This record gives sequence, structure tokens and C-alpha cells, in this order.
Amino acid sequence: MTLAPMEGVVDVYMRDLLTRIGGFDLCVSEFVRVSRHLFPASVFHQYCPELKTGGKTAAGVPVHVQIMGGEAQVMAENAALVASLGAPGIDINFGCPAKTVNRHDAGATLLQWPERLHDIVAAVRGAVPADIPVSAKIRLGFSDKSRALENALAIAEAGAAKLTVHARTKMEGYRPPAHWEYLRPIAETLSIPVVANGEIWTVADYLSCREISGCADVMIGRGVIARPSLALEIAALQNSPSANAAFDWPKILKLIGDYHRLIESMASGSRQAGRLKQWTKLLGRTYCESTDLFTSIRRMEDPADILREVEQRLGYVEA
Ligand SMILES: Cc1cc2nc3c(=O)[nH]c(=O)nc-3n(C[C@H](O)[C@H](O)[C@H](O)COP(=O)(O)O)c2cc1C
Repeated sequence: MTLAPMEGVVDVYMRDLLTRIGGFDLCVSEFVRVSRHLFPASVFHQYCPELKTGGKTAAGVPVHVQIMGGEAQVMAENAALVASLGAPGIDINFGCPAKTVNRHDAGATLLQWPERLHDIVAAVRGAVPADIPVSAKIRLGFSDKSRALENALAIAEAGAAKLTVHARTKMEGYRPPAHWEYLRPIAETLSIPVVANGEIWTVADYLSCREISGCADVMIGRGVIARPSLALEIAALQNSPSANAAFDWPKILKLIGDYHRLIESMASGSRQAGRLKQWTKLLGRTYCESTDLFTSIRRMEDPADILREVEQRLGYVEA
């Protein structure tokens, strides 16, 4: 199971926390937007500090570095650098729906041209040592789904080791539902693994997604932010189906405290506070107590105040 790349949400700290919990065997970094230039190594170290620890999180889960751009040659040069820095794999983002990104010839806009997807993947593949896997992440299309299989085939033929498909078009944004049924013909046609992504919030969603998509493997993003035990619960299905691996609210409060300790090295206190509020808000989807916590902390600017509030609640529930 792969922990999804999420810009501004799944950074080095969140990867550390979530992979310690368990259930994931792979992470993908936030995208590094590549255009025109070869970046210095410091840029990749900033997006993926794990490059300095063997390309793995503290729990030993590899982190593939994601790059995004429309110029094959520049993508290839940057990929070669990333590989030389010790990345265990390189992923190419063809799914970003952001208008500014798409307007500048990167992300999901490239889904309109299968031959360009092919050329970018082939150039990156050619620039990176053969033992480092190159993968890609797409959506089902830009405005419609008619070229989904053609795009997937173009990427596979260019030498990608794996393809992740977010089961929506760019135009569908993040609006539910995810169209898992469109993944089946792709998974059945390609000879490389196809990973299903989109709208997996619960164990039941995971089981439906696998059954409908025909994909053996999944990538999970928002679902595990809202329910940190999700990957563990899914992994527990294989080992001990009757075990309940879900976390209760006190456990979540402790995790928020752990997260606070991890992000303490972040430069500014207000950024730390922002991250704590952001996560607390997302947890509200699973834990109504978190919505209540968010209401209390939303105006706090000092992370220490937020932590005090968390600890007070922990003391209360454990008393
Ligand atoms: C805030 C946010 C940031 C994201 N950043 C990235 C990114 O950097 N690279 C990428 O490939 N996808 C990115 N995505 C898309 C997710 O990886 C994933 O494809 C999408 O959220 C659907 O999966 P989910 O329903 O499990 O969240 C982002 C999504 C969100 C909501």
C-alpha cells in the first residue's frame, strides 16, 4: 500500500508519523515542479529529506521522489540528479489539476497528448540507472475519460515500472465519486502493476475499490490523514481479520502530540500551528471530537497553546 503524495500535507513529518503506525510499504514525496533548469541537490533534499537517510523513513519505508514538468529533457536531467542522490525510485506526476501548473504545461494537462507522456517517461527512464524504478501517476483524463487506456499504454510502453491512476479526470477535481470501474480495463491490459487511487476512506472502501478496479494495490491519501489507523486496519485484514486495529480518540490525541514534537523543528511557530490545525480539521471526518478540538484551537497562533489544549483533553479523557 502506498501513502499518497500530498503537497502541504504529507511532508517528511507526516510520512514519518504515518509509516511508524504501519501498513504502508511505499511513500511518494510531494511533487517537485521541474521547468527549464537543473535544480541544485538542495531542492530535492528540501522536498525529500529522507534522501539523507538512505531514501527511507525512520520506519524503513522507501520514499520515491516525485517530479512534475512538461519538458522531457529537463525532466530527464533532474531525474538523473535525483537518482544520484540516492532516491529509491522516481515518480512522474501527470495528475496535478492546479490551473497555474496546467497553464504552464505540466501535470494533468499532458493527459491530452499520449505521445508526450511517452516521451517524458522514456527520457526519464533513459536517464536513470536501470535498477531505480521509474513510475507515473495519472488521472483518467483531462476533460473526459476517452484516452485513459491510450495514456496508460503510452506510459507502460515507455518503460514505466508501475502506474498509479487517480480514478477521476482533471475536470472532476476531487469531487466524489472516484470512478474505480474505469481502472479495470487498464489493469487488465497493462503488463505492469496498476495502483488504484481515490476515495478510499475506510476498510470497506478499500475492499470495494479492489473488487471493482481489479487492482491488487492501492494508494491512499486523504483517507489516512482523516483516519491514521486505516493502512494498519487494511494490513490487519490479511493477518488477523477479526482484530480491531482502529484507534480511539485518546490515541489520536497522543498522535497529535507526537506530530507536534516532529514539526517543532519547522522554522516558524505559525507554520507549525497551521499544520496542527489543518490535521485536526481533517481528522474531524472520522472523529467528531476533533471537530470540537478544531473549533477551540482555530484562532491560536502559538503551537504551545494548541498542545496545551490537546494535553488538557487527553488528561480529561484519561482521568
Ligand atoms: C492537498 C493535496 C495535495 C496533493 N498533492 C499531490 C502531489 O504533490 N502529487 C500527486 O501526485 N498528487 C497529489 N495530490 C493527489 C493525491 O495524491 C491523490 O491522488 C488524491 O487526493 C486522491 O486520493 P485520496 O482520495 O486517497 O486522497 C494531492 C491531493 C491533495 C488533496
